[in-house]
Amino acid sequence: EKGGYDHFMLKEIFEQPQTIFDSLRGRLDAKNGQLTLGGIREYADVLKNANRIIIVACGTSWHAGLVAEYMIEELCRIPVEVEYASEFRYRNPVVGPGDVIIAVSQSGETADTLVAMESAKQKGAIILGVCNVVGSSIARLSHAGAYTHAGPEIGVASTKAFTAQLVVLCLIGLKVASEKGTITQQRFQHLLDELQDIPEKVAATLQLNDAVKQVADKYKDARDFLYLGRGYNFPVALEGALKLKEISYIHAEGYPAAEMKHGPIALVDEQLPVVFVATRDSFYEKIVSNIQEIKARKGKVIAIVTEGDQIIPGMADDVIEVPEADELVAPVISVIPLQLLAYHIGVLKGYDVDKPRNLAKSVTVE
Ligand code: M6R
Repeated sequence: EKGGYDHFMLKEIFEQPQTIFDSLRGRLDAKNGQLTLGGIREYADVLKNANRIIIVACGTSWHAGLVAEYMIEELCRIPVEVEYASEFRYRNPVVGPGDVIIAVSQSGETADTLVAMESAKQKGAIILGVCNVVGSSIARLSHAGAYTHAGPEIGVASTKAFTAQLVVLCLIGLKVASEKGTITQQRFQHLLDELQDIPEKVAATLQLNDAVKQVADKYKDARDFLYLGRGYNFPVALEGALKLKEISYIHAEGYPAAEMKHGPIALVDEQLPVVFVATRDSFYEKIVSNIQEIKARKGKVIAIVTEGDQIIPGMADDVIEVPEADELVAPVISVIPLQLLAYHIGVLKGYDVDKPRNLAKSVTVE
């Protein structure tokens, strides 16, 4: 049932070229410049005219929501907020008609997310569900939605569901942008082509498994890790840190790279591995200076960079080179080595990576 893999988590990481393909199937037709999202067709106008989009989610799904905030604001010019479902629910939020809530959940059963969407629904907001489990409670309670189609996820650490969420949220953003006219035809077509290429690039990234394992072996005894990224890769840093915490029980924090100087840089010494998600994008020069700041304080830098990077390999202690991609879809690729890093460290430390202590696959209590 693990398909020859030692753990479900590894199997699910390796399934991603296929699951991403499945998320795109029947929706993306890059050749003809078409994008179809049957599940939200009836709400296309509501989305287009939304005053604001609020994404509610927990954990890894919340990280996917953060990436979607960047995507949707960029593509659709609609203000987006991303809320921890638990906080949103309990603070009497200002929400009502004209607002669209997107509830993102792998299981579709997360209690905090469910109650958050129910209360927003009562206040007159339209609810879209982005769920993996067909027929789940969140899917049923949504007005409309799009399934992620990643297939059953057994490992407690969410991996393939996350990349599927990114892809589906990107499709939603593109659809709304094209209807709203906030994207040029050229950029629209370019992003369709980029999405089309993702499964292949993810497959290529998975070839780095042995290289990532070596990095895991080198740093597995560290007490803490810092994960840093900017822009679209900032939520990827958060996700990398969460994966490591869950699976290897090593304390890890994710930060926007520029926030470091406002506090966390005090942690840096020669013992601290700092993972930079530093693929080539509009934030590249800035993140190069952040790497310099860490090196000046003798931190160990592990950098995820774009293939052919000429600068960062000369500065970092360890480098993982991933295929080039448009910054909007780059998180789907840059998260892969971080999933593998957490997996290998967990396994090397002898932990049960499929069932980490204290955690359940779906959290059905508030
Ligand atoms: O099923 P959901 O996506 O609603 O679950 C949300 C979180 O509980 C989940 O992402 C959790 O953080 C994972 N264990 C992360 O790997």
